[in-house]
Amino acid sequence: MKPIKVGLLGLGTVGTGVVRIVEGHQEDLQNQAGSSIVIEKVLVQNKTKARAISVPQEKLTEDPWDIIRNPEIDVVVEVMGGIGNTRDYILEALSLGKHVVTANKDLMALHGPEILAKAREHGCDVLYEASVAGGIPILRTLVEGFSSDRITKIMGIVNGTTNYILTKMSQEGASYGDVLKEAQALGYAESDPTSDVEGLDAARKMTILATLGFRTHVSLDTVSTQGISSVTKEDILYAKRLGYELKLLGIAERQDDSISISVQPTMVKSTHPIASVNGVFNAVYVYGEAVGETMFYGAGAGELPTATSIVADLVAVVKNIKLGVGGKKNALTYNETRQKTDEE
Ligand code: NAP
Ligand code: HSE
Repeated sequence: MKPIKVGLLGLGTVGTGVVRIVEGHQEDLQNQAGSSIVIEKVLVQNKTKARAISVPQEKLTEDPWDIIRNPEIDVVVEVMGGIGNTRDYILEALSLGKHVVTANKDLMALHGPEILAKAREHGCDVLYEASVAGGIPILRTLVEGFSSDRITKIMGIVNGTTNYILTKMSQEGASYGDVLKEAQALGYAESDPTSDVEGLDAARKMTILATLGFRTHVSLDTVSTQGISSVTKEDILYAKRLGYELKLLGIAERQDDSISISVQPTMVKSTHPIASVNGVFNAVYVYGEAVGETMFYGAGAGELPTATSIVADLVAVVKNIKLGVGGKKNALTYNETRQKTDEE
């Protein structure tokens, strides 16, 4: 069967993981997807930069339109980050009938409705599992696994960088600045780590979780956000002495028609399962009226955990292409939008 050709936008931490998994698991991916997956072109800023992984020079490009307007490319995988130009590339790719997989929570939290509408218009899939909680398949779980229930609360640690910092400050007495540098070197932090430490990254992820979990559009502006940049070692030690761990917690709740979302450093009782989520790990607690309490745990950032979610989305897209249902099935979107799709 004809191979599915992928254009990869970005070959940094996550892009490198995507290449490793697509190459390393090729046979298994082909068995599941029903077609081989070939990374045809890769966008970078600088073709001559030393890389953690070797990609043939002829596959690298510094021109995004080599991928977006390339008729050979079936699926665009966006792992370059950013909002302005990236939005334009994705909208153009969709209008040319290409499916999109992205890890970009900034883009999906701000421009999700526009991007999903464009995808519907052109019969394309947009999947973005990697945008929240790295390797935990929480978006698909909210949309599909909880479709029979009414979720009233979503709470969690959804930023790996800040959890890594708070853990090292708590367990090793390390300094905030030193651990932030470590998190950057490990590839956990955003290119501008301000969005991690000031809570904006977590706020964007909570917006996506609440939109999918509560099945209504939630605007980022409504999230009350405070980060960890002013948290001191003393704050952490006092909390510990009182029997608490300090965690950057996102909490989304709905009561009747009203939704409230906050991200802030929070004292969590040491006996609560969330208190023992350490390092780069994330956890998402979901309360459904019928199911009660559930919790999902795993690596929230980093090369291979994040790439696992990206490549799982890629397999889903390829399956949809093969079944001829691209843009109609398995979309990470909420009911209101799906109903519109069904009526169209
Ligand atoms: P990264 O390591 O900084 O890599 C970004 C890549 O994109 C680099 O290869 C860079 O090229 C390329 N790039 C950036 N801007 C470009 C431009 N204008 N034109 C051409 N190429 C460009 O970033 P990352 O950590 O992999 O994150 C990528 C995305 O995944 C972000 O949206 C991030 O929020 C999201 N994400 C990251 C993680 C994580 O653990 N890191 C987890 C979940 C989601 P050069 O290599 O030539 O500089
Ligand atoms: N900077 C993000 C974090 C990457 O630390 O959680 C994963 O989205």
